[in-house]
Amino acid sequence: MNPPAERETVVGRADSVGPAPTVESAPIPASNGNGTVESASLALTGPSGGLLPRRGPGRALLKRLYYSWAFRTLAFWPLDIVERAIGRTEPLVPPRRLQYVGRGDFEMIGVHWRDRLIRDHRLDGGTDVLDIGCGVGRIAVALIPVLDEGTYEGFDIVPAAIGWCDREITSRHPRFGFTLADVRNRQYNADGVVSADRYEFPYDNERFDLALASSVFTHMRPDGIRNYLAETARVLRPGGRLACEFFIVDDTAAALLEQGRTTFALDHEFSEPSGVSFLGSDPRVPEYNLGIHQRDLEAMTRNAGLELQSIEFGRWSGRDGGPEGRFQDFVTLVKPSS
Ligand SMILES: C[S@@+](CC[C@H](N)C(=O)[O-])C[C@H]1O[C@@H](n2cnc3c(N)ncnc32)[C@H](O)[C@@H]1O
Repeated sequence: MNPPAERETVVGRADSVGPAPTVESAPIPASNGNGTVESASLALTGPSGGLLPRRGPGRALLKRLYYSWAFRTLAFWPLDIVERAIGRTEPLVPPRRLQYVGRGDFEMIGVHWRDRLIRDHRLDGGTDVLDIGCGVGRIAVALIPVLDEGTYEGFDIVPAAIGWCDREITSRHPRFGFTLADVRNRQYNADGVVSADRYEFPYDNERFDLALASSVFTHMRPDGIRNYLAETARVLRPGGRLACEFFIVDDTAAALLEQGRTTFALDHEFSEPSGVSFLGSDPRVPEYNLGIHQRDLEAMTRNAGLELQSIEFGRWSGRDGGPEGRFQDFVTLVKPSS
């Protein structure tokens, strides 16, 4: 068993913790992916899990390397070229260098999300879907055969991802739209102009039946999440739902963190301008893996006018991840009907 975590407290604005490494502010779409695709990938391991040390500089270095655009280009471009040359490409699967959203089978993860949305969240052919932080279209692609009358809108902060989705998905399937949001995030878009706590979703009130955020709030600070929940409540129709993921620090997770039994450590404590505190695994880039306290999630949900319908705790915290062995904590929020 690993030794108990030593907790370091970083006081003040979370974004005042020193400059991000050069590779993260590179001009091409701000570096990294997440390392948490296991979120949706059932029992697959990933950079948050099996292959990485639980904490420390080795972990931070590997994360920065693996998810930097420079490294991804060097490492994956040759493979992309070979795969294209021998015809091992699919038009709706992005090249490997663009699959920054984490490890695991790109198509399977999308299919898993889709099936879950159909089974538990009333997704059918006529649903209007919002995909918050849609990345490079992993879930959009899986929804193409389902949405024959409904619509899909996704937005993200990584230009290369939205560019690929526009070119490859919208051009073939005009029901699917993608929007680039220049929102700041130290992991993905360090130079973004808008703060997540101010960003207004570019959609009309009550435009959607269903919203999802797959492995997004695990990379956003609480003040941004608070605004995103309020915006989601605005654009959802009454009775609409938000299916989303978090790393929730409840009493059990806190004890498991102390005992060193979680997949990754959350040793660093940060404080938002609003006064809300949260935990991160990296002192410079809390967004790599960001844990929020359950009481704060509950308060933000209430303040947004949403109801917390269910939480399924995932494997990240050392629990079993439920029947599907999910990695992140899966949360369902509902906008009341009246
Ligand atoms: C791990 S990836 C997951 C992408 C996608 N949801 C999926 O499951 O394939 C996390 C995504 O969240 C996006 N993201 C982070 N902060 C965001 C924000 N404030 N607004 C929108 N997207 C954000 C990142 O750019 C990245 O594409």
